[in-house]
Amino acid sequence: MEKMNNTEKKQDFKKPELSVRELTNALYEATKTLNETNQRLLKEQKEKEEIFANISHDLRSPITVISNSIEYLLSFEELDPDVLKQSLLLMKTKSEYLKRLIEDVFLLSSLESNLKELHREELPIIQYLEEYYYGIEADPTYADRALSIQLPADYESIVSIDPKLFERVLDNLFSNALKFSFQGDSIRLRASINKDASYCIIQVSNTGIGISPNDLPYIFNRTYKADAARSPGADKGCGLGLAIAQSILKQQEGTIQCESQGKETAFTITLPLLAKHNTFI
Ligand SMILES: Nc1ncnc2c1ncn2[C@@H]1O[C@H](COP(=O)(O)OP(=O)(O)OP(=O)(O)O)[C@@H](O)[C@H]1O
Ligand SMILES: [Mg+2]
Repeated sequence: MEKMNNTEKKQDFKKPELSVRELTNALYEATKTLNETNQRLLKEQKEKEEIFANISHDLRSPITVISNSIEYLLSFEELDPDVLKQSLLLMKTKSEYLKRLIEDVFLLSSLESNLKELHREELPIIQYLEEYYYGIEADPTYADRALSIQLPADYESIVSIDPKLFERVLDNLFSNALKFSFQGDSIRLRASINKDASYCIIQVSNTGIGISPNDLPYIFNRTYKADAARSPGADKGCGLGLAIAQSILKQQEGTIQCESQGKETAFTITLPLLAKHNTFI
């Protein structure tokens, strides 16, 4: 076998592109990123488990009431019509709640996985809000609240939205304003158009129980409800409404945020306007 001399040996040895120190640093960074991703995944997993537990609980309690009512009715040899009616009404309320909850869970998951197709329409937003408000004004459940409206006389600003989905957003904001307030409290709808007419600002505000600074950062999280003891109508929701509203607005290039100080709570939505030359007016 031919022997290599020293010079040949030196020529064969290739200097590594990275030094040991650089390699150690790169390895350290990669481990750090891996740990961070792991932590994030664990957090997401924990959140999902929590949401699942909350939804299961909210599904289980009305089902228990319904099955207990059936047991109760079956225990009678002869049924008093008043008892029957009361139990049926209770079962009706609970089954309606169940239906809404299942629809909400389905809607939220289809919005989050982008499976929900948007049916966009070009609408004069101020007119749309005005008509929506008249519906609220005519609704007897709002009769003991001080309702008010403040809209610009603008029928030319057009948004491109899914009207049914946008109605879900407003429905939740108004039902929250009602649920978390008391007789005589105010509920107000306001809107304006920004200076260069690029977006519309819509605000639904109310006086009522308010939202504490501790709860405020979390209210858009799925199934989050502020301290249940403080909420007069806490049993009426699963805490999905604002998460759904945020997903709907995100899909329609809009935003939603909330401010609350003392008894005042205000939700502000922005929606992009179509440029005037693009619109049908
Ligand atoms: N106007 C408001 N005043 C006070 N608290 C509010 C108001 N709007 C929302 N919140 C708080 O934010 C939480 C989340 O609201 P969200 O609409 O998501 O859920 P929900 O109304 O409890 O249930 P759902 O909308 O699913 O029926 C509420 O449970 C409540 O604690
Ligand atoms: Mg709600």
